[in-house]
Amino acid sequence: MTMRKKISKHAIGVFDSGVGGLTVVKELIKQLPNEKIIYFGDTARVPYGPKSVKSIKHFAMQDTAFLISQHVKLIVVACNTVSSNAMPLLQSSFSVPFIDVLKPNAELAAHTTENNRIGIIGTYATVETSTYETYIRSINKNTRIFKIPTPLLVPLAEEGLSGTTISQEILKMYLSSLIKKNIDTLILGCTHYPLFEKQIKTIAGKDIQIINSARHTALCVKEELHRTDMLNKTTRQGKIEFYLSDIPRNFNKIARRFLNRPVKNVKHIDIERY
Ligand code: DGL
Repeated sequence: MTMRKKISKHAIGVFDSGVGGLTVVKELIKQLPNEKIIYFGDTARVPYGPKSVKSIKHFAMQDTAFLISQHVKLIVVACNTVSSNAMPLLQSSFSVPFIDVLKPNAELAAHTTENNRIGIIGTYATVETSTYETYIRSINKNTRIFKIPTPLLVPLAEEGLSGTTISQEILKMYLSSLIKKNIDTLILGCTHYPLFEKQIKTIAGKDIQIINSARHTALCVKEELHRTDMLNKTTRQGKIEFYLSDIPRNFNKIARRFLNRPVKNVKHIDIERY
């Protein structure tokens, strides 16, 4: 067996601070049904969004080191907070290919907007960087970008409170200032936020296009695996292994609801060892 063929059987690694990355996993399962997936959720240290850049980088390095110890062939950084703060560090520290979630979001938004006014909601650490602006403007330099931090959404998602009247009120409060800016495109700049997509669509109305990059990210993964000849060509159904840095608490419930399948193989690891 050639080296490439051997590597093609290895898993795709995916990480996020908690349940958010599952929004990307859902699309990966759809588009790449033969691939094995190893998911790491850093439930001991979620949320990343309000933390310092130094901590986020440190967490991202450990999350990556863990996935590499599992011999993954590619890593999906299913976290906007890490994607906007730590990609140059990860790429210069590890030789594994990375796909982040920020670039697909930025590309989609830049091609979707017609009035060149894009809104972004994200964590503090994501909106405090200019990474989104840099990518969007490299494609469409005339865009005006309006960003706000929406820090309550991650704990609400982790608690399984999406779709409730509580989240509805909070979303209304957050989105009202962006809607007033006459945006026609809204980026869900955090992988936890697609859990609120239906509610956000109702509040934003039909004139605002919602950008949820999960599908586009999965497509980028597929293209990269194809380009590097690392697609798993065996027809067997791929499986998923879940690793968390703390007790699952709501993880199993949310993951089951979200992925429409029972979540087995959830293991605990000590992330500080990596
Ligand atoms: N889901 C992650 C993101 O896309 C992280 C959220 C958090 O941990 O604050 O930003």
